[in-house]
Parts: sequence; structure tokens; C-alpha cells
Amino acid sequence: AAAYDFHGVHQAGITTPAQDRLHFAAFDVSDTLDRTGLVELLTDWTDAAARLTQGLEVEDGGAVGGSDVAPPADTGEALGLPAAGLTITFGFGPTLFTDAAGVDRFGLAARRPPALEALPRFQGDALKPEWTGGDLCVQACADDPQVAVHAIRNLSRIAFGRASLRWSQLGFGRTSSTSTAQSTPRNLFGFKDGTANVKAEEREALAEHVWVDDGDEPAWLAGGSYLVARKIRMVIESWDRVQLGEQERLVGRTKGEGAPLSGGTESTAPDFEAEGATGAPLIPTDAHVRLAHASANGGVRMLRRGYNFVDGNDELGRLDAGLFFLSFQRSPEQFVTVQRSLAADALNEYLKHVGSAIFAVPGGIRPGEHVGQALF
Ligand code: HEM
Repeated sequence: AAAYDFHGVHQAGITTPAQDRLHFAAFDVSDTLDRTGLVELLTDWTDAAARLTQGLEVEDGGAVGGSDVAPPADTGEALGLPAAGLTITFGFGPTLFTDAAGVDRFGLAARRPPALEALPRFQGDALKPEWTGGDLCVQACADDPQVAVHAIRNLSRIAFGRASLRWSQLGFGRTSSTSTAQSTPRNLFGFKDGTANVKAEEREALAEHVWVDDGDEPAWLAGGSYLVARKIRMVIESWDRVQLGEQERLVGRTKGEGAPLSGGTESTAPDFEAEGATGAPLIPTDAHVRLAHASANGGVRMLRRGYNFVDGNDELGRLDAGLFFLSFQRSPEQFVTVQRSLAADALNEYLKHVGSAIFAVPGGIRPGEHVGQALF
């Protein structure tokens, strides 16, 4: 793709066909900033993002066209590169409204969406503070990693003294399709991921499961969504010693085609009632797709938009690899419901959740506005 519109009814980077690369960043706002300063930061970020997503520099002539005796306004590594489908999506964490000490730094406490709270502790969580939380988030997705990194780097630079990076994550190889026009990619377990995702073409499902509705509380979040980020380590060395048939039973789908174990092709709906010759269900009771499926969760769905990651290796020579899970939903309750159901997931033996964050993602930005304008 060349360039996606920055302005619109919803922020880009949610139903936009998932790009190949991710740089996700969580920021903490400086304690010295006041409400006016926060609005200025969001305005500066909005202006820069509107340009960057069109393949432009932060300012005209930003990298090399400025004064010889001042640092360039744009860091320059994307000079000559196209927009590469860059989308920049902003979100507000619970601590923006009331910080960890209970202080209402920006006069926003009364405007906090009641559902925007740190996620509850889930069974098996091994969260590290250094990959958890954040006052603000920026999700940069592009088909070129240099373009995504350039976006986060320049937004961090613009925020200097006002907000600082708390943690960030690089991702490659989207693990979801968000459009029926896309083929289904694979995660690091080697399985197709994103088959049963909510897709951009499913307008009714988006309205029901992804977008905050005009009638939902609070009104300022209408057209927005809630973003959950989970850094999930995969114990791939153990996984790689599991027999193929067992891998398929853990997931509930075949590895090659991605078809449900109840039969058919990738697009066939799973039949959770189907039994084999021995009377055992073809899709085991603890298979991931059974426990994650809407039928096990009161009809709840979500839009998944995660990425693979490999952050080098640990001291035992194991790859520090996994899935940086991102999902968008109309209410955090949807993620909580599914994640609780996954407490019995057979895949858990090979997974460790090490990072977690939640953000309210405001609706789309109109020309002349800044992100989250309706909040202030
Ligand atoms: C489906 C892998 C974590 C929610 C799937 C599928 C695979 C998979 C292979 C089947 C293909 C598809 O429909 O996309 C994984 C792996 C995970 C992981 C390897 C961890 C590293 C999660 C988490 C959640 C989740 C944390 C949410 C709490 C879902 C949902 C589906 C799904 C909702 C679709 C189920 C359906 O409707 O059939 N996952 N997943 N997954 N997963 Fe996961």
C-alpha cells in the first residue's frame, strides 16, 4: 500500500489491512506537564503523525534543509522511503486519568472511562513492570521496519521533556489478517493465525465487537476502541519437541491448512460437538480455539492485530521469542472474558505472559483537530 488516510471516522491502524511490521511504544507523561502542556503534546504528535503517514518528514526540509547550526527537525533515516503503509494509532492509559499515586494530574479523573482500569491478574501471569502499563501509547505499523521505527523515534523526540518512553516493542510478521483480501500469516508456533478474526469487511461485527458506540459511556470515546497489549513469551524450544498431532490438538486446528480438527478447510466453522470413533471430541476440550471461540465466551469476539517478536536470546541459548498480542475491542470486558476462559488452555504450557497494558483509543481525528480532542 502507498499511504493510508490519517483522518477519518476511526483512527487508522485498527481495521487497516495489517502491515508487516510494528513498532509499539508506551510513554509516561512527565510530572512537570500540566493539562495545557498535555494538549500541546497531543497536538504536536497529531501534526507530525498526519505528515509521517503520508511519507513526509516531520517538517518540510526537516532532515537536511534546515540551519547548519541546529539539530535537524527530522532524524532523516526515512528520507527517500515511501509511506510504506504507515499508520499511527494513539491510545490513553488508565494512569493518564489518575496516576499510580491517585493524583489527577490533568483534571481528567472524572472523564476516565469506568472500564479503563489496569487489567486484573490472570492465572499464569508473569508480568514484568518494565513491559507493563503506560500513560500513552503509540502503535506504528508499516510494511518497512525503518519507516515504523522512524515514526516512533521522531514522536519520542518531539515529546522530549514532556513524555518519555516507558517500554517499546518491535514486531515482524503480522500474526493476523484484518481483511478478507489478506492471506492468513503464521505465528512462531507455525500455525495460521487470524483465521477467525473480526475482519474489516464485517461491518456489523465491528459495530458490535470493536467500536465504542455513540450510546456507550463515555461519549468522548465514541468511534474509538480499547486496545489490549500482551507480551507473550513462547517457549519455542519445548514446543519444537512436541509431536505434530499433539501440536494440532493443542491448537484445535491443522498446521498445514489451518482447518478445524472437526473437518473441512481453513474457512469451515469449527464443530465443537463433533466426536471421533472413540467418542472423544475432535476438537479437545482444552484446545485453544475452543476456549477462545465466541461460543465459549457468551458470544464475545475481538479484533486481533498482533505481531511475532524475537528479542535476541537468553543466557541459556533459547530464543527470546513470542507473540506481541494486540487486540481491539468495544469493552475491556471482552478481553478479560476470553483470557479467563484461556486459563484452561492446553497451549499455556508453552506460553508466558510477561507484559500487559490497556489503552482507550479515541475515535478518528478530523483535519484541524488533535487526537482525543473530545476528551478535553
Ligand atoms: C485463534 C494462536 C493468544 C484469542 C487462534 C488460532 C491460533 C492462535 C493458531 C487459530 C487461528 C485463528 O482463528 O486465528 C495463539 C497463540 C497465542 C494466542 C500462539 C499466544 C502466544 C491468544 C490470546 C487471546 C486469543 C491471549 C485472547 C485473550 C483468540 C481468538 C481466536 C484465536 C478469539 C479465534 C477463535 C475462534 O473464533 O475460532 N489463536 N493465540 N489468543 N485466538 Fe489465539
